[in-house]
Amino acid sequence: MNVASRLSVFLVPLAIALSACNSSNPGTTTTTDSPQAAGGNAILIGIGVAQTSNVALLGQEEVNGAKIAEQYFNEKGGINGTPIRLVFQDTGGDEAGAINAFQTLINRDKVVGIVGPTLSQQAFSANPIANNARVPVIGPSNTAKGIPQIGEFVSRVSAPVSVVAPNSVKAALRMDPTIKRVAVFFAQNDAFSKSETDIFQQTVKDQKLEIVTVQKFQTTDTDFQSQATAALNAKPDLVIISGLSADGGNLVRQLRELGYRGLIIGGNGLNTSNIFKVCKALCDGVLIAQAYSPEHPGAVNKAFREAFMKQYKKDPPQFSAQTFAGVQVFVEALKALDSKQKVTQLSLPQLRVDLNRQLLTGKYDTPLGEIAFTPEGEIIQKDFYVAQIKMEPDGKNGQFVFLK
Ligand code: ALA
Repeated sequence: MNVASRLSVFLVPLAIALSACNSSNPGTTTTTDSPQAAGGNAILIGIGVAQTSNVALLGQEEVNGAKIAEQYFNEKGGINGTPIRLVFQDTGGDEAGAINAFQTLINRDKVVGIVGPTLSQQAFSANPIANNARVPVIGPSNTAKGIPQIGEFVSRVSAPVSVVAPNSVKAALRMDPTIKRVAVFFAQNDAFSKSETDIFQQTVKDQKLEIVTVQKFQTTDTDFQSQATAALNAKPDLVIISGLSADGGNLVRQLRELGYRGLIIGGNGLNTSNIFKVCKALCDGVLIAQAYSPEHPGAVNKAFREAFMKQYKKDPPQFSAQTFAGVQVFVEALKALDSKQKVTQLSLPQLRVDLNRQLLTGKYDTPLGEIAFTPEGEIIQKDFYVAQIKMEPDGKNGQFVFLK
């Protein structure tokens, strides 16, 4: 079986399974203006992430983190006694899907704010719609340069490529100080991948390494033979990939199948154990920078990790932790507002504006550690990590091993 058909064997059942999971839509239509009315006695927060398409390899982890947050914060009393309810709308993997999901969340579901979308590529299209409607959006995984600058109602809990990506290059050099020649790959149809490769390439130059080739691909590609062959002819001793998970996983596999033995760094779009199904045993050794560690000390992370482990039988991945943090920011900002004036008595347009203003001023003790925002909506976060994928020889199971 060739690579393309092997990938589709894996992806088709996943897509069916994921669309079957999309059962949380309330399916209600309402014309009222109150923040509570559409949710019965609950305050509605929108989750607009990818539940179908290849991007669901990342988005499903976001759904999982959001669901743990909903349960956790409701058990702690919700918004001073009023529960929250998450409204899920599937963005799929493209811009049109994200726009559609955001419009539904804003106009039909009447959420107070949105955590989403999954990709920066989608955020650059969908976030301006929320911004114009004066609805706060918190990005759970958008790491491209320029996301908070989309508008005053846009912030993110996903630290940008400039902060995260250099850590993996430095870790690779600590593991192998003889590295000199670097091959860089990036997905040229994806805003995040283009932004991340800029940072990777700058870091490589800052470390006085040589970029021996830059290879481009599309996130929809499954066959990387020509780019991988060209790169290996340049004799790199480090490969750095900025792409998403299905394409990135396939590229890792094909580089190894063609005989590449050096270190590989995967960017933020490969940061999911869902790539194990794509590159199997050949995922072994890939280095990926992390904005979250399951070992982070602190009561919130302990509770989050335990609840996640109980529900999903594994440690929480970065995208789940970031989405939990996004929901947490809304919950804690709503509580702070509510202590000044009952939020259920505000009109929805007023609540959305007040909520955005409030959330930018708070400090939050999250599973990511203590976070806050710049006035523009950029995350301020302290702790970052690098992990290396360790696969079992059977190629089925693996884990992210955090480097000391
Ligand atoms: N970090 C990736 C993006 O921003 C998922 O699109």
